[in-house]
Amino acid sequence: MCGIVGYIGNTDAKEILLRGLEKLEYRGYDSAGIAVQTETGVQVFKEKGRIADLREIVDPAVETFTGIGHTRWATHGEPSRENAHPHQSTTERFTLVHNGVIENYLQLKREYLADVTFNSETDTEVIVQLVEKFVNEGLEVNEAFRNTLSLLHGSYALALLDRENPDTIYVAKNKSPLLVGLGDVFNVVASDAMAMLQVTDRYVELMDKEMVTVTKDSVTLQKLNGEVVERAPFIAELDASDIEKGTYPHYMLKEIDEQPAVIRKIIQAYQNEAGELSIDPEIVEAVNHTDRIYIVAAGTSYHAGLVGKEFIEKMAKIPVEVHVASEFAYNMPLLSEKPLFVFISQSGETADSRACLVHVKELGYPALTITNVPGSTLSREADYTLLLHAGPEIAVASTKAYTAQLAVLAILAHVAGKAKGLGFEADLVQELGIVANAIQVLVDTKVEIEYIAREYLSVTRNAFFIGRALDYYVGLEGALKLKEISYIQAEGFAGGELKHGTIALIEEGTPVIALATQPSVNLSIRGNVKEVVARGAYPCVISMNGLEEEDDRFVLPEVNEMLTPLISVVPLQLLAYYAALHRDCDVDKPRNLAKSVTVE
Ligand code: M6R
Repeated sequence: MCGIVGYIGNTDAKEILLRGLEKLEYRGYDSAGIAVQTETGVQVFKEKGRIADLREIVDPAVETFTGIGHTRWATHGEPSRENAHPHQSTTERFTLVHNGVIENYLQLKREYLADVTFNSETDTEVIVQLVEKFVNEGLEVNEAFRNTLSLLHGSYALALLDRENPDTIYVAKNKSPLLVGLGDVFNVVASDAMAMLQVTDRYVELMDKEMVTVTKDSVTLQKLNGEVVERAPFIAELDASDIEKGTYPHYMLKEIDEQPAVIRKIIQAYQNEAGELSIDPEIVEAVNHTDRIYIVAAGTSYHAGLVGKEFIEKMAKIPVEVHVASEFAYNMPLLSEKPLFVFISQSGETADSRACLVHVKELGYPALTITNVPGSTLSREADYTLLLHAGPEIAVASTKAYTAQLAVLAILAHVAGKAKGLGFEADLVQELGIVANAIQVLVDTKVEIEYIAREYLSVTRNAFFIGRALDYYVGLEGALKLKEISYIQAEGFAGGELKHGTIALIEEGTPVIALATQPSVNLSIRGNVKEVVARGAYPCVISMNGLEEEDDRFVLPEVNEMLTPLISVVPLQLLAYYAALHRDCDVDKPRNLAKSVTVE
């Protein structure tokens, strides 16, 4: 989703901004732009398409030491040069980039800006025009900016240039993520530390409804009432090599391959000195004190939540409900007496999940966030956090974060259960070690999956994933992976549900990928496969050692029955990867999608 960068210092701002935007490409965008302060005023370069297209139009001769940049993921107005950021006020004195959605922009237009001609369809332009209006009415820029912010309803991360104050970048945030990075005689602004890791690893977090005045030597945080806020910086513990592709053709493939290492890292991170799995006792207490857990998440994280429900109910005997964040916020179920909310989010920034968290905290309920990003909004605002330790996930399609979520949920369920004399039936450390080895085998033999992808998915327009019990949830994730990066219409179904409607879609040759890793439902899913074959489907059965049958297309190494989702998802991730590759799709940056969905 939209990304913001800013730089003010002594070196060429253009290159730092462009490189920063390239690091934000993973978030998903459809246009990009930069604005830089020059001796003759602010110059704006913006273009629909990729950063590479923007690079083409940025004049290399322009000398500049201050600027802001933006990648736009269209919400208000189509992807176009006109709607791309930065946007300028009528006199071009003020120039602004924005991430978020201003819900009352039409009302603000009507009420304050009826005589202004707008150049774009965006909500953003209202903000920059309001700043100019208030300055024209006599306010100082700082005051005009704060006045404008106080009128905005919705989410924003903002960076503003003033032609008349070229030594300052004005910054503000509400709900959308934004950091200020500190340097030696320079400072930067970024939606994500990754963008500016090239120049600094020291960052100051911004809280909602704060504004910041950034010069090359100073960073001043203020609340909207003008009160100055002091906040110590933190060090972004990111290794620059973690965010490089290295020799891999795509981040997604690199991240799939990293899964065994991630599982091992999680085991280590959650082991105490005695080698036992351990979790902050306060979290265990919160889990065991609740009468019902409500898992709230989106997309892949929601699918991880479905598996997590099974883990927690079986190992800790606590009832769990799993909810899609975008629905939960507006359609809350009847809650139990002592609910505990668990937010699962790779990025920790998903706006739908955050809206639920804000609501839940207003109601006074405890919340735990399971995330990959320490210091992310969902982590900061929940009472407790469990980290995924998966390392940065750059590809839009989530892979290693999903397996990490499952591993952490299994550990949570086991440790909470063990505190009550329950827990995992076997040695979870050992079984997760076996899982890591099994994933290693799978990623080492990916050529077989590439072959299957070519055979089943090269030309088809649709595909179905079926499974029962845990396999059903993994099928949902397999279908999401396939559709998001290959654009094949893919759906996951519970094997038994097909007969209730979906089987009508089965035609001669329709690929049906069936998971058969669960002994308790093996016969039933085999029956469902027969039903679709009888109607012309082209079946691809992925089973597990010990449960395999003669015509199965792929057999997974055996792991503990409850942990099968951690490995059965891997061939599905690889199937999606190769299907997208064979169809010439942009694997890491699929159309219309954003990595971090920071608008509701
Ligand atoms: O960062 P989050 O885990 O909160 O993101 C939630 C979804 O947007 C995300 O899982 C999305 O579905 C992935 N692109 C799927 O691969």
